[in-house]
Amino acid sequence: MEHRLRAAALVAALLTAASGSAQEFEGERLLSPGGDIEVSVAARGGRLGYAVHYRGEEVIRPSQLGLLFQSRHGFNDGMVLLGEAQRRSADTTWEQPWGENRYVRDHYNELLLTARHEVSGAVLHIRLRAFDDGIGFRYEMPEQPGIERLNIVRELTQFAVPTEAAAWWIPADRTNRYELLYWQTGLEEIERVHTPVTFRLPSGTHLSIHEAALVDYSGMTLMQEYTGGFRAALRPWSDGVLVKTAVPFVSPWRTIQIAPDAVGLVNSNLILNLNEPNKLGDVSWVKPGKYVGIWWAMHINERTWGRDGVHGATTEETMRYMDFAAENGFVGVLVEGWNVGWDGDWQAAGDLFSFTESYPDFDIEAVTRYGHERGVELIGHHETSGNITNYEQQMGAAFDLYEELGVTRVKTGYVAGTSWLKWVDENGVAHYEYHDGQLAVRHHLKVIEEAAKRGISVNPHEPVKDTGLRRTYPNWVTREGARGQEYNAWGQPPNPPEHTTILPFTRMLSGPMDFTPGTFDLMPNERPPVREDMPRGSPESRVETTLAKQLALFVIIHSPLQMASDLPENYAARPDAFKFIRDVPADWGETVALAGEVGDFVVIARRERGSEDWYVGAITDEQPRQIDLDLSFLDEDGGYDVEIYVDGADADWESNPYSLAIEERPVTASDRLALHLAPGGGAAVRLARAAD
Ligand code: NOJ
Repeated sequence: MEHRLRAAALVAALLTAASGSAQEFEGERLLSPGGDIEVSVAARGGRLGYAVHYRGEEVIRPSQLGLLFQSRHGFNDGMVLLGEAQRRSADTTWEQPWGENRYVRDHYNELLLTARHEVSGAVLHIRLRAFDDGIGFRYEMPEQPGIERLNIVRELTQFAVPTEAAAWWIPADRTNRYELLYWQTGLEEIERVHTPVTFRLPSGTHLSIHEAALVDYSGMTLMQEYTGGFRAALRPWSDGVLVKTAVPFVSPWRTIQIAPDAVGLVNSNLILNLNEPNKLGDVSWVKPGKYVGIWWAMHINERTWGRDGVHGATTEETMRYMDFAAENGFVGVLVEGWNVGWDGDWQAAGDLFSFTESYPDFDIEAVTRYGHERGVELIGHHETSGNITNYEQQMGAAFDLYEELGVTRVKTGYVAGTSWLKWVDENGVAHYEYHDGQLAVRHHLKVIEEAAKRGISVNPHEPVKDTGLRRTYPNWVTREGARGQEYNAWGQPPNPPEHTTILPFTRMLSGPMDFTPGTFDLMPNERPPVREDMPRGSPESRVETTLAKQLALFVIIHSPLQMASDLPENYAARPDAFKFIRDVPADWGETVALAGEVGDFVVIARRERGSEDWYVGAITDEQPRQIDLDLSFLDEDGGYDVEIYVDGADADWESNPYSLAIEERPVTASDRLALHLAPGGGAAVRLARAAD
């Protein structure tokens, strides 16, 4: 009750303080092209605010806009809207070099408002775009006399969500970065959350709040100030300033995706559309594909990164993986632990890593040559353990080395607590920053640009969140930034069955994820230890899915660099299921989310890029589910040969996870497939165009 009263008071403060100064009120409206979304913006009582309606329903209640600065008047009060608003519309289609869809329609109406602070005279533009799948707005500070640099100390942007909404969220105040299990709660339980954060309103309308084009700014989390009243809480630098910027500047877009149902969010391209077009020119060197790695063996304690156990990154072992990759159509082999710095406690080795010197038992020239002779590349690896300065000092030479060796894809890593990214200033003093603060935002883009100069694509783990910059920098192919498969090896607890039914409607709305699906040995900690001093993890850490669901994840979780996580011997043991992993592509021409509810189930169909073959993934949470798959998304002319990999009738993630049924038959667009998903189960479907 107290919350409600507070909410009412704040909204009243925002909207009614202007009474008696009606001439200052200049409300403006912006409609989406189809007319379903309406944004209103106003200055009342000197405060800037906005609200959003969707099909007549208030989805964002009156919410404040503005910024506060260090040692200058802020844009929180004394604001007036000036002159005529500028309006513009656009309807274009652009091509993605790789991704979920080859062609993306970018269709919006735009409103550009100019506001001025009455006392200081400082000017702020607010640019808003309304699409049929949501809205975006950003602050733009134009060049103006006497303001060359600014320190932003607060962003006042609010998102006042209806109080009855349900939410799916991860907390933003943990030591871990984004690798957390999602909470599904009413609003009262939320304090500070990361974006994207997803809401379902009682009407069924779904919202996702996030940001697009996060460049040279700090990442936005949301703090709930009263029930439903979320305010931007930007990550501070270690000195407390939120953003240090020159003027002119533009903020990232603040985005609200709006859809009538859960899958509508997945089918939205709003985040990409609010990013700038490709700045890298010809990016035909960015090549999607599937890969394997000397990686899971470390996570299940069969190998070690360093030489103080059973070293995984040896020349011989790499060649064994390369043979396996070549035989099975994988483009690369990731090798972790190849370079100096891993011995001992590597998580504390941020100052020690060399990114050019390999351990003596890893002959980097020999393995890259061996791979190239077989059409397989080494996938490079740079773990920084969070030391930005150590990495930046070596980055040029490190990427030069990979370029010389023909390594075109690099996984990076930033294992360190969320506020423990280290940089050292010119006086040798160390500072520690957030993984989503302005330093990290700058650093990741620096890496992307340095890598692009050498034709290298990047896959950061423990990254800053995705805000769609892959459109502008297509070598930023994928990233981690959520709880992935590795938690099933050592997580306490591992990922529960519902985890991957939440990701598509939350984290995946921001972009691709290197989740690493395809674990076939679902109880890896039951294998005997390889050596006494390398004990197994807890048997409670296991993969809480069926085998069929592991296959389905190759379609559900988009990653243009898609890793099959398990050991070659575990794939060799199940050639029937492994065939799907061999067949499934990592790059798509078209994607449609067909059905789903956040945290319950999801069905996604994707057409292979440059092909007429379709793939469908269907997954469920801990509940069994019957999916009636309507194939009308297929081309009506001609037929398809379907291969269905579905849970066996007696499958259950807990008691019988390996039971898998594989069926083949001809189908057409007018058929339907009845798929029975087991508890924690799934189905993976391949629809190959039949020869005429
Ligand atoms: C954490 C990453 O997520 C994981 O994939 C990697 O194996 C380790 N860091 C070591 O770099």
